[in-house]
Amino acid sequence: MKKFYLETFGCQMNVHDSEKVVGTLESRGYEQVESPAEADLVLYNTCSIRDKAEQKVFHRLDQFKRAGGNNGKVYGVLGCVAQQEGQRIFERSPHVGLVVGSASYSKLPELLIRIESGERRVTGLSLDTEEAFETPMTRRDNPHRAYITIIEGCDKSCAYCVVPFTRGPERSRSSASVMAEARQLAAAGWTEIQLLGQNVNSYRDPTPAGWDFARLLEEVAGVAGIRRVRFTTSHPRDFVKEIVDAIERNQTLCDMVHLPVQSGSTKVLQAMDRQYTRDEYMRRIEWMKNARRAIAISTDIIVGFPGETEEDFAETLSLLDQVEYDSIFSFKYSRRPNTPALALGDQVAEEEKGRRLTILQERQRAIQLRRNSGLIGSELEVLIEGFNSATGQWIGRTSQNRVLNFTAAPRAAGAEPQKSEVIGRYVPVRVQRAGPNSLAGECAVAL
Ligand code: 5AD
Ligand code: SF4
Repeated sequence: MKKFYLETFGCQMNVHDSEKVVGTLESRGYEQVESPAEADLVLYNTCSIRDKAEQKVFHRLDQFKRAGGNNGKVYGVLGCVAQQEGQRIFERSPHVGLVVGSASYSKLPELLIRIESGERRVTGLSLDTEEAFETPMTRRDNPHRAYITIIEGCDKSCAYCVVPFTRGPERSRSSASVMAEARQLAAAGWTEIQLLGQNVNSYRDPTPAGWDFARLLEEVAGVAGIRRVRFTTSHPRDFVKEIVDAIERNQTLCDMVHLPVQSGSTKVLQAMDRQYTRDEYMRRIEWMKNARRAIAISTDIIVGFPGETEEDFAETLSLLDQVEYDSIFSFKYSRRPNTPALALGDQVAEEEKGRRLTILQERQRAIQLRRNSGLIGSELEVLIEGFNSATGQWIGRTSQNRVLNFTAAPRAAGAEPQKSEVIGRYVPVRVQRAGPNSLAGECAVAL
């Protein structure tokens, strides 16, 4: 049997693409192994969102070059770096035999046949694909949370972003196929679903049913057996009030929204071509703040975009204070090939970007500590995801996506709970302590 090794970099879209790749390979008789040394086929599913992410794959490939070339193995680069660099990867790493971009995975079975028949260099790089990457063979590793892609690609043109180039134009899946997958997952025991897309809000059912994103959310939440539905990522421009209304109405829809802002300065937002002002963004935040159910809000921020002044950065800091995010992901601006902002140069020095990033993260850390501390004394439902034997605590996740570590009394004295029976359960936990990144508490029921 042929053996393959697959390492994944990047976002949840990529993680889920890898699950589909694994399923496709297994259905062709390949077996997944834990190290490149054991494999005939060594695959990297790559990310090119920032330069650092892109360098990771070339670092891996160079390691093999130093170790003496291909050792009879086939090396493959998949995903966003493959799409971006294309044939150039063969020049840079001559032992690579397979280059498949993120918009061409549906061609993977036929590409594999060509590899198996001994072809040396095989590529799948077309971006004009009409098909979404749907496969009945997806191999999901998490037994409780399952990803479902609802929309692929991106039609926005944010000046810093490589994604429209690496993932191609936007295309929505039919609501019928999304619903069929959700029902199938529920029947097989999954209780949490995460709907994925570069911009889930602009989902539009291509069939006559014509559902928009809010409708799809409510329908997925209504599938029997599904306890939690999350979704990512949202673009503020397409984020409509109906989404907040749906969350308000429906306990199954998790009370959290990831709404990337990128900057608190309207001037910088314009330069980024984000298509909203700070005030328009804040209006969306107000919808959530005014909802009957508290909704946790997280965001992405870039510091050091070309032209970002000290005053612009101060506006991003004031936005943090104004919104009081539950968590943020923050990055130094990185110039990317094929992006509109490339022409602007890299105007803010690396050192200054680093300084701004540290200030931003410290400010947010204090906000998170304050917000998390406000939860002490409350009882929250968690999905039990694991057990940390070093601390003796169970690891849970709240609907708002906070990690809540907790202890629990055994059902009978001395009776150790079986991990396999406990992991995957939903239990109420009383919060006792709070840090900036997690909570700790005690389970309200014996396990
Ligand atoms: N440089 C830095 N950060 C970036 N992001 C996207 N492109 C870049 C870039 N060129 C960030 C954005 C986005 C997140 C996924 O990555 O904040 O929301
Ligand atoms: Fe990285 Fe963006 Fe590609 Fe995800 S879509 S893997 S974040 S470049």
